[in-house]
Amino acid sequence: MSVLPGMFAWRCPPRHTPAAAEAAGRVSAETPVDPLVFCPFPATIVSRVRRAFSIPAALKDNFLTPGVRLVEQEILDYRSDTMTRPTAPMRRAMAEAEVGDDVFQEDPTVRALQDQVAEMLGKEAALYLPSGSMSNQIAVLVHCRPGDEFLCEAGCHIYNYEQGAFAQLGGVVARTLPGQHGILHPDQFQDTIRPDDAHYVRTRLVCLENTHNRGGGRIQPYENVAAICRWARDNRLAAHLDGARLFNAVVATGIAAADWAAHFDTVSVCFSKGLGAPVGSALAGPRCLIEQAHRRRKCLGGGMRQAGIIAAGALYALEHHVSRLAEDHQHAAQLAGAIHQIPGLWLPVQEVDTNIVIFEVDPCIATAKQFVEQLRRLGLLMLPVAPTRVRAVTHLGLPPTAAVKAASILRQAVATCTATAEKTEEKTTCEETGKEISVDPSPITKDL
Ligand SMILES: Cc1ncc(COP(=O)(O)O)c(C=O)c1O
Repeated sequence: MSVLPGMFAWRCPPRHTPAAAEAAGRVSAETPVDPLVFCPFPATIVSRVRRAFSIPAALKDNFLTPGVRLVEQEILDYRSDTMTRPTAPMRRAMAEAEVGDDVFQEDPTVRALQDQVAEMLGKEAALYLPSGSMSNQIAVLVHCRPGDEFLCEAGCHIYNYEQGAFAQLGGVVARTLPGQHGILHPDQFQDTIRPDDAHYVRTRLVCLENTHNRGGGRIQPYENVAAICRWARDNRLAAHLDGARLFNAVVATGIAAADWAAHFDTVSVCFSKGLGAPVGSALAGPRCLIEQAHRRRKCLGGGMRQAGIIAAGALYALEHHVSRLAEDHQHAAQLAGAIHQIPGLWLPVQEVDTNIVIFEVDPCIATAKQFVEQLRRLGLLMLPVAPTRVRAVTHLGLPPTAAVKAASILRQAVATCTATAEKTEEKTTCEETGKEISVDPSPITKDL
């Protein structure tokens, strides 16, 4: 259960813990529970206590006081599929995991996870890593040397949202190609390899992202992937896949993970996105490259000790949460269908491939930031990703009724923002309609 500032919930005394509630049958084994926000008291008591304490307005903004959490109403958190919490059975699997020191390579659960990932992706070996960013950057570091260059799509995560670590850590540069909502065509790679000349960097690697986050969860067409990677191989370039959401592409297309992965030398997958595990990614590839990746992980301080505790969550996710991604895709399609019906909002791409919906807000009504703030007040969290663009991501932490409720809140927010825009004093003129509007032109490029 997710909750917003305003409603009272205490840290649970032992007999009111989620485990105790589950034993008493109040929550199902599949209900995600968070001991910090789990409230065992009926709503009437909560509201009486709230009135008695009369919480100052200043405290009503995500404010934590020791021992007491102030929370207001149930919220729907569509900001990212990283917002999930482990389910009760996943937590149990983690609690019961057999562990050892993984820096000594003696953690049986981590080893089991690595073997499982290697098998699913049809690779010789895999390495468990703390994050998708570390996994991608280590991949670039094992493929490239200082003075090398890799080719990638302009909106990809490796280039935009990982601090250019390839340049900071490896002396590597990137050359970007503009995609159509993240999708690259093989023809775009013609003439992108630098001549063998002392003036130039050396082109070494192609990186693709599938599904594409900023592209709105788009799936790279399989034939494009095959052709681009064939071209890379023919030109002695390596190929890496940022498959943070590869399993979404697998479930949506019915093409096996190993078939997608077969075109690449290395593949990174994340467990902490749609799969719902709390931590971690894995990099898979030929054993010799994964051994190099292992050295790089240690160098970056990414060696973890009894990591089986978190690896168990990832193993549980691979077993139980892959096929259910279809529900997230259905949920996203339902949400997109509703957005399509709301005047003032529109979808730059009509079809939603997987679990990410990106939509535009009419700038005559509000900026994306203002619109998202209005949604937040109504209990719906989404992410502004550009001045007029908002992102919503579906995941297993959202209840089945979420899309209907979200659609109603979106409609309400459009109505409120429209009314506010008409009243606002600081106004400029909207180019499209000639109407006066208030505009916040600050670019927003935050991403999760
Ligand atoms: C496509 C893609 N790759 C990599 C990452 C990085 O993952 P992490 O947040 O675990 O570093 C993300 C995170 O959202 C992502 O969307």
